[in-house]
This record gives sequence, C-alpha cells and structure tokens, in this order.
Amino acid sequence: MHIYCTNNCISTLLELSLYHIRMYSINPTCQLCKRRLVEVYLPQISSLFFYNKRSIRHIRSYQIVRPGIVSKRKEVPEHIVKPGYVTGKLQKQSSRSAIAIHSEDVIGRMRASCSLASYILQFAKGLVEPGISTDEIDSCIHDEIVRCGAYPSTLLYKGFPKSCCTSVNNVVCHGIPDDTILQCGDIINIDVTVYYMGCHGDTSDTFPVGEVDEKAQHLISITQSALLKGVLACKPGARFTEIASAIEPYAVTNGFKICRRFVGHGIGESFHMPPNVYHSFTVLGDRRKMEPGMIFTIEPILMEGKTNVEIATDGWTALSKDNLLSAQAEHTVLVTDTGRDILTK
Ligand code: MF3
Ligand code: CO
Ligand code: CO
Repeated sequence: MHIYCTNNCISTLLELSLYHIRMYSINPTCQLCKRRLVEVYLPQISSLFFYNKRSIRHIRSYQIVRPGIVSKRKEVPEHIVKPGYVTGKLQKQSSRSAIAIHSEDVIGRMRASCSLASYILQFAKGLVEPGISTDEIDSCIHDEIVRCGAYPSTLLYKGFPKSCCTSVNNVVCHGIPDDTILQCGDIINIDVTVYYMGCHGDTSDTFPVGEVDEKAQHLISITQSALLKGVLACKPGARFTEIASAIEPYAVTNGFKICRRFVGHGIGESFHMPPNVYHSFTVLGDRRKMEPGMIFTIEPILMEGKTNVEIATDGWTALSKDNLLSAQAEHTVLVTDTGRDILTK
C-alpha cells in the first residue's frame, strides 16, 4: 500500500506510532497522506486506540486479523507413517476417562517425538519476521517435519487443513495458516504437533514479529512463565487442579485473564486423551492425583481483555471478541517418580 506525496507540506501528524506510519507508507509531512490516513486508515484501525491515564492517545502496533485464503493442501510422502485418523484405521481408545500410565516403551517414543516437536518449534521461530505469510511458515514447517521422517499431526486431524496452527494477535488459538502477512508489531503463536515413532509430541510458543509494544511483550513473557508455574505444580500425588491454582492467580496478578474455552489434554499414542487439563478455576476441575507415567500437555492462553471467544465460519479459528491480544505457550509433560520432565524442552 503506497501513497505518493504530491504536496510539499510540513505539518506534523496525529500522535501516530512509527509502526503505522511504516505500515501504511505514510509520509507524516504530507497533507494528502494525512487526509488519507484520517479518512481511510484510521477508521479501519480505530479499535486499536486506547487512552492512557493522562488521556494521551496511543495506537497499538498490531493488525486485527481475520481468517484469510487457505492454500492447497500439501502432500505427505508414502513412506511417512500416519496416525489412524488419517489412514481411516480405528484408533484403540482407552476407557472413557481413565488416565493412562504409559509404559517405558511409550515413554521412550514420547521423548523422541517431543524432542522433535521442540526442534521444529525452534525452527519455526527462526522463520518469524515481518513480510512472511503464515502459509509460508506452515509450508516450511511441513517440509521440515517430513524431512525428519515424521507426520504433522494437525494435518487432517478432524479436518484441519494445515501442518501447524498459527494464531496471530487477536486469534486466540487454532488459527489456520493462510495468506496473512506478518507485520512488525504483531505476535504469533505457532503450535506444532508431530507424530513420530507412533507418538504425538505437542508444543507451542508465542513470538514477537520485529519490535512489539510493551504490553504485547509483557503478555508473552507472563504467558511463558505461567506455563512454567503450571509445570512446576506437577509431581506424583499433586492434583490436576493444582495446575490452575499455580497459573490463574499469577496471570490475574499480572493483569491478564485465562481463556476458559480451551484446555490441555492427555497425549501419547493418541493426540488427545483424558484428562482435560484446566488452566483456570472451574467446577469441572479434575481432582484426581498425578502418578508417574502420566503424560499430558499444559497450554494456557492468557488474554489482555475479556475472555469471550468466537469461532470463525471455518470451524477452527478462535478470535477474541474484543480484538485484544492473547498469547499461548504449551509443553508436553511427563510425571516422573520424583517430579516431572518437560518432554518438549
Ligand atoms: N496442537 C493443538 C493442541 O495443543 C491442537 C490443534 S488441533 C488442530 O491441542 F486441529 F487445530 F490442529
Ligand atoms: Co495440545
Ligand atoms: Co498444541
């Protein structure tokens, strides 16, 4: 989007952030640009305005995201072993709500799939920069997972069309990689799950795109430490409800809320298994005790504003109703004899 100056004007603009001046290629000394900004762009981004205590106008530095155009599905080569929901074979389902105590064999294979997931997430982090689309990120992640001999678990899971989730800014989770182009000031959660040696490893983190505003940076760092607090609550004999007790007050003290709509989950040879792992206080909370050999994810989503979420018509993309930011971080965790191991470290 380029606007050319035809005037030689010397007026200074509204108190616009540098990000927006760059984003819209606006020359702050040009009257034409200024008019265009006020008439065309400001209404588009008006929901990014807020007023601080001294009533000085600030503009947040991120774009409000809506689902975009999803590209053609990528293929996975024949030789890659695929999970049951892809091949159409019935998955052996453990009894409805019992929490699996995994065998040494499964634990060994979970270590392998989780360390691959962790490597892929680091690889993904290296792709994040202004100008790249979430579709391009997905394509690179897909190729790298396949190159490593694994299957991207999200691809065709309950119809999900891509090889990871990319949730930008006001997208709370389950964003489908599309033609959205990352801009300086955005934040992006990339959620990677790989199926390797017959097991799923699941991990995610939120990354800044270029320089982000202080509030976004704070949200990301509190989200990451909230996850670690949840992890540290895990040990044999601890109740699953203690995860929420470690996470929620910490998030709230720091000015954020926990998204109640999405939970962590048991994981192993199946992508999602019992129990539900809640990150906030709820009567649904699972008071059962952890035992060595249990494996589950912890994946809190922290939100800046209200926790109301809307699912887009694609059936996946969860959006914050108030368009404010959210961030998420996720690990797959094994309960050991003495405490816990982060398998996706
Ligand atoms: N990886 C996500 C989780 O943490 C699940 C994504 S399911 C998908 O549980 F279908 F949206 F990809
Ligand atoms: Co998960
Ligand atoms: Co995940």
